Amino acid sequence: MTSAASFQTRVSEYRSRFDRVLDSTLPPASTDPVLLHEAMRYACNGGKRLRALLVYAAGEALGLQPGDLDAPAVAVELIHAYSLVHDDLPAMDDDDLRRGQPTVHKVYDEAMGILVGDALQTLAFEALTRRIPTDGIGAQRLLQVVAALGFASGSLGMVGGQAVDIESEGKKIPLERLQSLHARKTGALILCCLRMPTALAAPDAVVVKALEDYGRLLGLAYQIQDDVLDITQSTEQLGKTAGKDVVQEKSTYPALLGFDAAKALAAKTFDDARNALAPLGDSAEGLRWLALEIEGRNH
Ligand code: IPE
Ligand code: IPE
Ligand code: MG
Ligand code: MG
Ligand code: MG
Repeated sequence: MTSAASFQTRVSEYRSRFDRVLDSTLPPASTDPVLLHEAMRYACNGGKRLRALLVYAAGEALGLQPGDLDAPAVAVELIHAYSLVHDDLPAMDDDDLRRGQPTVHKVYDEAMGILVGDALQTLAFEALTRRIPTDGIGAQRLLQVVAALGFASGSLGMVGGQAVDIESEGKKIPLERLQSLHARKTGALILCCLRMPTALAAPDAVVVKALEDYGRLLGLAYQIQDDVLDITQSTEQLGKTAGKDVVQEKSTYPALLGFDAAKALAAKTFDDARNALAPLGDSAEGLRWLALEIEGRNH
C-alpha cells in the first residue's frame, strides 16, 4: 500500500520509471530512418513530465498499479511532445527554443519537425494498445482509454484549441471564448491524464466527477499560469522564449483581464482544483501535491 502523503518521495521513482518506459517505446536512434528516430528522441528530451506524473498520481488515487499506468503515461507525453514540436514551427508560434534547447526544426529542418510530430502522435496510440488485456472487461476499458486520448488530442481538444489560438492572434475575443481556447489547447490533454486511469479503474460516479472537475480546473489554471510566466520569467528560466505572447498578440488571460486579475484567477483556479478532490480523501494526496507543485513552478 503506497502512503499517499509521501507522493513527493515517489516522484523521482516515477520519473525514472517513465524515462525507462519512454526509452523502450521510442525506436532506437540507430533504426532506419536514423535522422527521424534521432529527432523523435530529441523532441522527447527534458520537460517536467507533469502529465505522466498526473497519470501515476490519479492511478494511486484509484488503487491502480504503476504497471497499469505506464502506457497511458507515455502515450500522453508523446502527444504532448508532438504538440510542442508543431507549436514551435514557423507556421505556428515560430520558436527557436524549447526545454532549454534549440527547437526540432532548428536542429533538423521544418520537414523533419512536421514528420517528428506525425510519428510521435501515431506512436502514442500504438504504445497504448501494445499490451492487450486478456479479459473482455480489460479490453473494453482499454478502448475507452484510446478514445479518451483521441478525443483530447483532436479537433475538439488540443488541435482545436491550437486552431482557435492561431485564429485569435491580434484579436480581442470574449472571455468565454478564451476559456474554451485554453481548455482545449492545454486543458484537454491534462484532463485526459485523469480520464485514462478513470477509464481503467471504473470507479463510482462521485469519484469520476471529482477527478473530472480537478482535471478541468487544473488544465485551465495551467495555461493561465503559462500566460503569466511568459511575462514574468526570463527566457533562461523558462527554457523557451519569454515575452512572445505580447509580440505575437496572442489572446491570453493577462492580455484580456490584465496581469493582476489573471494571476489571481490562476491562484483561485488552482485552489478550486484541489478542493474538487475532497470526496477522494487521503487517496488524492498525490494529486493535491502535484497541483501545489505546479502552482509554485517558475518554468
Ligand atoms: C508547455 O507545457 C506548453 C503548454 C501546454 C502550456 P509544459 O510546461 O508542461 O512543458 P514541458 O513538458 O514541461 O516542457
Ligand atoms: C501551447 O500553448 C499549447 C500546446 C498545445 C502546445 P503555448 O504556445 O502558450 O505554449 P508555449 O508557451 O509555446 O510552451
Ligand atoms: Mg502556441
Ligand atoms: Mg507556443
Ligand atoms: Mg505559452
